[in-house]
Amino acid sequence: MAELAGCYAASHGPLLVRDWAAVPEHEKKRINAGFRELGRRVSAARADVIIEVSPDHWVNFHLENLPAVCIGVGETHEGPPEPFLKAYPHREMAGDADFARHLVASALGAGFEPSFSYRLKLDHGFCIPLWRMELERLPRIVPMIVNSIEPPMPSLERCLQWGGLLRAAIESYPGPLRVAVLASGGLSHSIGEPTMGRIDEAFDHECIRLFSQDQQKLLQYLKDAIPGAGNGADEMRNWLVAHGAARGRGFELIDYLPVPSVYVGCGFASWAME
Ligand SMILES: [Fe+2]
Repeated sequence: MAELAGCYAASHGPLLVRDWAAVPEHEKKRINAGFRELGRRVSAARADVIIEVSPDHWVNFHLENLPAVCIGVGETHEGPPEPFLKAYPHREMAGDADFARHLVASALGAGFEPSFSYRLKLDHGFCIPLWRMELERLPRIVPMIVNSIEPPMPSLERCLQWGGLLRAAIESYPGPLRVAVLASGGLSHSIGEPTMGRIDEAFDHECIRLFSQDQQKLLQYLKDAIPGAGNGADEMRNWLVAHGAARGRGFELIDYLPVPSVYVGCGFASWAME
């Protein structure tokens, strides 16, 4: 049977690549160290497959058809189409079609109704963490796109439930797979709106504190505070998916730093597996 190898989270933002030269040296060092430590943990967990949870930033889906959740069931996925990611080392990434179809079937059987796609491009939300973690061997990727870009979005409760569903699907898969969950996004950031570039450090610190506390308090806080923390804070949904998969236990912050030059409150975290 398959097993959950670990749950992880990291921030992303186009400027982490596009404007990397503008990031002060001491922040570069901490960002690099955060991604590398995550990479070290993912490698140590010997994951065969990563379910990576990220939004789609208008690459695959647009307003004529915008799924709440879409799971990539292809044998492969295309590399990032953004020009600033042309140095990303993979033009194509292996998927795990069999496990991904099992995940979709498990979801449908449990009353979740994701869309699925045999052909996805993985944008910077997926590829920046995968790149910066500097993994020696890239596990097969099962993308889980969660809409945190355009309202209305999946509820925070539902995202937490999705985490539980991922875990159940992993544990019911009849193959000797080790599957990690990697959330990409958050913490606070504000893009393409009047508060563009603002980082809400108080929000970020309170989120981090509450991931180690009561789940209901975390949900209530996020519900109340996300609307004031910039539109990028909606990506905390992805962290909730990882939190749910880890059964909300053992949250460990690797590092957090606000990085004004890339507009993102950058966090790196993993969850202990019981
Ligand atoms: Fe994003």
